[in-house]
Amino acid sequence: MQLKKDQLRLWDAGIAVAGLITARRRGFYMAAAKVTPLVAGNWKMNGLTASRGELTKMIAGAGVLASKIELMVCPPATLIAIFSDAAKGSAITIGAQDCDAAASGAHTGDISAEMLADAGARAVIVGHSERRSDHHETDAQVRAKAQAAWRVGLTAIVCVGEQRAEREAGKTLDVVGRQLDGSLPDGATAAKLVIAYEPVWAIGTGLTPTPANVAEVHAFIRQQLNTRFAGDGGTIRILYGGSVKPDNARELLTVAEVNGALVGGASLRADDFLGIAAVYR
Ligand code: PGA
Repeated sequence: MQLKKDQLRLWDAGIAVAGLITARRRGFYMAAAKVTPLVAGNWKMNGLTASRGELTKMIAGAGVLASKIELMVCPPATLIAIFSDAAKGSAITIGAQDCDAAASGAHTGDISAEMLADAGARAVIVGHSERRSDHHETDAQVRAKAQAAWRVGLTAIVCVGEQRAEREAGKTLDVVGRQLDGSLPDGATAAKLVIAYEPVWAIGTGLTPTPANVAEVHAFIRQQLNTRFAGDGGTIRILYGGSVKPDNARELLTVAEVNGALVGGASLRADDFLGIAAVYR
């Protein structure tokens, strides 16, 4: 009997030690159990009404993936309504690329989250590096935009990522940590928030980080999410973005803590976009 108790104690101690060792990776196991990957296409300032044909091809090819992943296309704002109509009942959802923080008012040329939801969008990308650089958007503005998205039930896809000089200076995790702190509103859940890690130097350049680099940053982001959003931190999706193509998708998307991709250039053609998503087949 005594022996059994000792054995049990040893067993408990073993579990405790194993628990400590795996604590850093716990988010991964939770994520692996519950997360449905998301592959989202960011069309940027590309696409006319004639591009609906490409969406139709994507819809045709998306069915076989529907039980495994979520597929999303984020066209320019001019196409959200017609794409939403075309994609109704299909395995593809439609997202937007940016929103204003205000609900309405005197903001010429801007588009509110309310308007995007009304046009049929289900999500909105905020804080993309092109908005941060071209429009000087700050973390505080990105955070306000994410809150605007939540106000109307849209998922906010919040982008973070370091510049080349920051990576070379060994500051990647500092930069990403600061962006997460400043850009994420409190109260995130897996339904409300997706993070896209996009190294700025990898966007549109054909350059990509090594899988080890991606693993390091994604593990760091997971740790931050777990600390800040206990409960949902382990299941908020973390996408990789930056020069994802069909021929490098497997290498990048099978890295631990990578829960899908935000795809720019390669999302404009159905064959490429579906080729990337096929990693999850
Ligand atoms: P890319 O763009 O795939 O063309 O590099 C990614 C992005 O900016 O989201």
